Amino acid sequence: MSNTEQTLSIIKPDAVERNLVEKIKNIFVKNNLNIKDSKKLHLTKDEAAEFYKVHQSKPFYNDLCTYLSSGPIVVMILEGENAVMSYRKLMGATNPKDAEENTIRKLYGISIDKNSVHGSDSLDNASKEIRFFFKN
Ligand code: CMP
Repeated sequence: MSNTEQTLSIIKPDAVERNLVEKIKNIFVKNNLNIKDSKKLHLTKDEAAEFYKVHQSKPFYNDLCTYLSSGPIVVMILEGENAVMSYRKLMGATNPKDAEENTIRKLYGISIDKNSVHGSDSLDNASKEIRFFFKN
């Protein structure tokens, strides 16, 4: 039985700055993750803090919010079969050093902070994160 899902993707400032947006979008499409909506924006630090609120108790929270708001990002709704998990697999491990060959973070990530892409970690968070950026 098919299980079409939607998930949220962010191309982070390091990847936008290095002109990787089209390359990363091509990887999505080749892997059957269809881009249903896409926009480029630049978050304020407060907006980044709101988006990453689940991490507020972590020691890296402040740096994370500073980083996400440091330059333009591209946010997308991806749709496909088991999209949440299939996109997480395609991204690779959070730390590019640990990511498997041919994953986006292995190909393009620079560090655990500048790891090029974000993806929702569950179906529940996917719908929250999609709503955060694509309010109707
Ligand atoms: P992301 O998938 O966007 O979710 C939270 C981000 O925090 C993560 O990618 C990393 O870029 C960043 N981060 C920084 N330090 C850590 C850490 N020690 N563990 C997990 N994530 C971290």
